[in-house]
Amino acid sequence: MSDLLAIILAAGKGSRMKSALPKVLHPIGGKPMVEHVLAAAHMAGAGRKVVVVGFGAESVKATVGTQAEYVTQAEQLGTGHAVMQASSCLQDFDGTVMVLCGDTPLLRGQTLAKLFAEHQAMQASATVLTACMTDPTGYGRVIRDDSGQVFKIVEQKDATSSELAINEVNTGIYCFDRVALFDALRSIDCNNMQGEYYLTDVIGVLAQAKAKVCAVQVDDTAETLGINSRIQLAEAEKILRRRKLIRLMDNGVTIMDIESTFIDDQVCIEPDTIIYPFTWIEGATTIGKGSKIGPNSRIQNSSIGENAILHFIYAHECQIGNDVTVGPYVHLRPDTVLADGVKIGNFVEVKNSQVGARTKIPHLSYIGDTDMGAGVNIGCGAITVNYDGKKKHRTIVQDGAFIGCNSNLVAPVTVGEGAYVAAGSTITKNVPRAALGVARARQSNIENWVNKK
Ligand code: UD1
Ligand code: CA
Repeated sequence: MSDLLAIILAAGKGSRMKSALPKVLHPIGGKPMVEHVLAAAHMAGAGRKVVVVGFGAESVKATVGTQAEYVTQAEQLGTGHAVMQASSCLQDFDGTVMVLCGDTPLLRGQTLAKLFAEHQAMQASATVLTACMTDPTGYGRVIRDDSGQVFKIVEQKDATSSELAINEVNTGIYCFDRVALFDALRSIDCNNMQGEYYLTDVIGVLAQAKAKVCAVQVDDTAETLGINSRIQLAEAEKILRRRKLIRLMDNGVTIMDIESTFIDDQVCIEPDTIIYPFTWIEGATTIGKGSKIGPNSRIQNSSIGENAILHFIYAHECQIGNDVTVGPYVHLRPDTVLADGVKIGNFVEVKNSQVGARTKIPHLSYIGDTDMGAGVNIGCGAITVNYDGKKKHRTIVQDGAFIGCNSNLVAPVTVGEGAYVAAGSTITKNVPRAALGVARARQSNIENWVNKK
């Protein structure tokens, strides 16, 4: 068992977000804020993670699931009170307790690992992560004695004017010896401007008792940005997004325009792929090497092969093979599987269909619930008629078939291998292998009609 356990405070409502959603569940970089904090704690080596829930407890538990344990803080009486709620479930734990806030999604695992290492090396009772801010407004200030030892933390609302002038702030992240933490919590009160039990008072209590209190300064203050409002959410989103893009570029991916490219944290892209502007790549998406994605595309939860060219498309829950070209103005809906070398052109929608290797669907088609073989050619405007008003039916188009322009394939129906369908046909019966299916009225010309009119 790891000798590091993390408590993540996430019971507050986050009133300044003006939201029905608990603050810690607001998505950032494609996943809920609190999950970034859990991931950082995990990277730092935290075995158990205990999330203190209160406002929106059920939805927090439902979203975070089994990644953490939960304790409930019924009333939000302050950060110290929140940590106290975890006391009973930590009775048999004998190591270091790291306290984190659920609203600091930019924290890096390395930073927490460094805090933990320093705490252990110093054999401290408490180690607080601090930051020097040009504008420390709103944060608790770190007060040091003449020898530079941390002496206490004073909240903005309780600080004197000389304390307010201090620019070293409490990031709200700490390591504690478990016994020292819960002993000190027993002696804090709520006699302060906010009438809350402050976790920060534990630092003062321990320092007074001559316990060892240390501080580690964070290198990159942006990491500790706490999200309290929508504007801070947008700022943090931008920082997180940039970090992801830098990681991708470091790994050999070209990003044409950092400002207009949005790629979720969990997306994997191989080298020599180029991402053009105004492109969103979200969720569990993977992209192979040498592909060109965008401009103006949105791809969600899809796997894309090598050397694919996808421009001006929206694709979700799809599998796209190697050397596939899609776009412009294409919608690939869930359970579309495109084999290698497929070409999908302008204004085409594909849904819940398999499309075989090198098949072409170049213009103005709807293909739904279809199993299409290899080397098929779908003429302009040809569509599948998959819905009879009650049920969906499948269309089968076998290898090498040629479907003429503007035909309707009324499912369930099969067009056999190498068969042709004449342009403008509405096919309701199977077309056998190598046959021509024609299903349209014959043309008759009325001679001299214009002159007689
Ligand atoms: C806290 C610190 C402050 C520090 C700042 C850093 C205290 C008293 N102050 O202030 O020194 O500079 O963080 O961001 O700790 N929460 C609960 N239950 C509660 C109250 C809060 O779970 O009863 C949770 C909140 O959901 C949030 C976290 O604790 O995730 C921090 O609470 P918040 O009210 O944002 O504290 P700050 O005022 O920012
Ligand atoms: Ca905060």
